[in-house]
Amino acid sequence: MTDIVKKLLNKMTVEEKIGQLIQVTGDFFKGSESTITGPLSENGRLKDEVKYMIGSVLGTSGSSEVKKIQQDYLAHSSLKIPLLFMADVIHGYKTIFPIPLGIAATFNPKMMKIASQVAASESAAAGLHVTFAPMVDLVRDPRWGRVMESTGEDPYLNEVMAREAVKGFQGNLPIDDSHIAATVKHFAGYGAAEAGREYNTVDMSEWQFRENYLGAYQSAIEAQAKLVMTSFNTMFGVPATGNKYLMKDILRQELEFNGVLISDWDAINELINHGTATDLQAATNLALNAGVDIDMMSFAYITLLEHVDELSKNVLKLIDESASRVLQLKKELGLFQNPYKGLNPEKENDKDIKLAHEKNALEVAEESIVMVKNNSSILPLSFDQRVFLTGPVADTGDLLGSWSWKGDVLQTKSLLFKMKKSFKNISFSEGINYHDRHIKDWDKISQQVSDADVIIVALGQPSSESGEATSMMEPTLPIGQIEYLKKLRQFNKPIVAIVVTGRPLILTQVNELVDAMLISFFPGTKGATALTNILTGKSEPTGRLPMTFPRNNGQIPIYYNSYTTGRPIEFGLQNNETKYVTKYIDGSNDPLYNFGDGLGYADISISESVIQENVLSMSEQIKVSVILQNKSNRSGQTVLQGYIHQKIGETVHPTKALKWFKKIEVPAKNSRKIMMSIPVNELASVHQDLSTSIDLGEYEIMVGLNSTDLVSHNLTIE
Ligand code: NOJ
Repeated sequence: MTDIVKKLLNKMTVEEKIGQLIQVTGDFFKGSESTITGPLSENGRLKDEVKYMIGSVLGTSGSSEVKKIQQDYLAHSSLKIPLLFMADVIHGYKTIFPIPLGIAATFNPKMMKIASQVAASESAAAGLHVTFAPMVDLVRDPRWGRVMESTGEDPYLNEVMAREAVKGFQGNLPIDDSHIAATVKHFAGYGAAEAGREYNTVDMSEWQFRENYLGAYQSAIEAQAKLVMTSFNTMFGVPATGNKYLMKDILRQELEFNGVLISDWDAINELINHGTATDLQAATNLALNAGVDIDMMSFAYITLLEHVDELSKNVLKLIDESASRVLQLKKELGLFQNPYKGLNPEKENDKDIKLAHEKNALEVAEESIVMVKNNSSILPLSFDQRVFLTGPVADTGDLLGSWSWKGDVLQTKSLLFKMKKSFKNISFSEGINYHDRHIKDWDKISQQVSDADVIIVALGQPSSESGEATSMMEPTLPIGQIEYLKKLRQFNKPIVAIVVTGRPLILTQVNELVDAMLISFFPGTKGATALTNILTGKSEPTGRLPMTFPRNNGQIPIYYNSYTTGRPIEFGLQNNETKYVTKYIDGSNDPLYNFGDGLGYADISISESVIQENVLSMSEQIKVSVILQNKSNRSGQTVLQGYIHQKIGETVHPTKALKWFKKIEVPAKNSRKIMMSIPVNELASVHQDLSTSIDLGEYEIMVGLNSTDLVSHNLTIE
């Protein structure tokens, strides 16, 4: 605790300390809302003496709005401790970047840093101090709508992206005027909601948790994220928000997190629904004992104010600890020196800054697009090819994705708008909207198709169908879109599909019906330009899938880093025995597209891969030198990927696990030598006693341009 925090704490009444632990929406300060009842309210509003003790506000931003609220607050509160302003700035504030799943698809950590930096700088100018991001929950189930907000299914990719997001949001410490504090969420395991159903139970072994899920939170905390948010779900049988083992033993002690722990929205109150607390008071006790510092909108901690004189010594101590952490954050943000820190109306509305940010958004969007099919190299298209553009996503600005509350869909340019500038001869009919089965203007469309050289059909989901509370039983495109595609196929013209989505979709039928396909996870403000640049070949598609795309609904959950089982499918093939192996009787085990998949226009391949030393000790680096060769006439980029597999161990190990990746440019008709270098301690795994260590013995090191066609090298750790 710093001196200023100590001094303040000594001056504060218990009520004032409790106030620091309460967070409400900005509406309570605008005087418009009447959502609270009980002894602390007056005509549905918070009583002034409570209101002017509150510690933080969520969901309100904009320099003038924030200034007004802060000024009023400081004028009325006795200790004049500035309010903290927090909000969900997930993939951009006004300038919207691709959704986090799309940023993950760039396989380029720099892109995550840039997106987070820009988001932070716009938010800071708008008066925000804290974002509720990054969400680093590992997800293996595309039925869960919040998969859009994640960086996918791989622990290593998640760890890398989590770290970059924190660095991007916070910048160098102490946090300056163009950065904001990051909140790692949701601790823990929210992405593993059973059957992908929102807010559902999470039940996994602690071994599994430590093997795959914990790493990304840890990486964000090591990058010095200032806050952590609890998750709605249970973990080891206890709701996270009241889970002392999770929050005190793992988060605080083991991960040494000493920042602010904030509850998710209403999550303390929900301990009652979970059935672990009888009433709000009991819920408050559980959360306080778990070390939850801020109560976001549960109106649980506020009940402490009703019986301050009866609070036990333990509760008073917990209140002191939590209040000091909140004050410490305010201090570290520099709010005691300047309560209006970062807030800057000129910067907020500066046109040049906006243009620069849009340039960043375009760069990230381009890198996020994944080409999964390109038969006969039909892409890229040339300027004079006659194009027929159609489909529900062709003429819409709904490209921003969920969590873009300050992004402007109406101002967002559509594909049609952008493509008109890039193709000499383009015709358009929507044909079908997202959910309709009725095809509009079929006669006209028939003519347009006959007159065209290529059909571009833009399919997908509206952004309202991914994000919080959008679980889907069947993550697939609506039937009308598939039927429309089938009708277009009858013309025997080449078809390019663009699929805009917030989650992996089952695209098995689409894949059969089209010649080429681009997958774009909601690409943001500059999405249409990015897609057009890829279509015309102005930019190379360099995105790779951060999640496996299932072939069939019944395969879910499906992920690349699975275990072999005692009866792997190959075992059946080798022994002429196909029945008693791990498989379905009605379809393949293989997904439609694998994690790490993605094609480019340039013809780049690995021409040589040599491991430098194949016997190493614990402290060394695994080094593989790889030569990438580009046989084509265009320069291009690819993503070199390095995977490991531990052959024998006390517990099982994934058939492969990503441990290294890099986006690499290879000039036309040229080659490049790359040294892949993985520290041996990346081989560490979790043992039966839950300890993490490296086993001596045999490993396989694999390199490739995706996760399936890999060159393998043996390695021994002594
Ligand atoms: C609920 C969401 O789970 C969380 O991620 C978000 O930060 C809060 N609402 C506040 O909007």
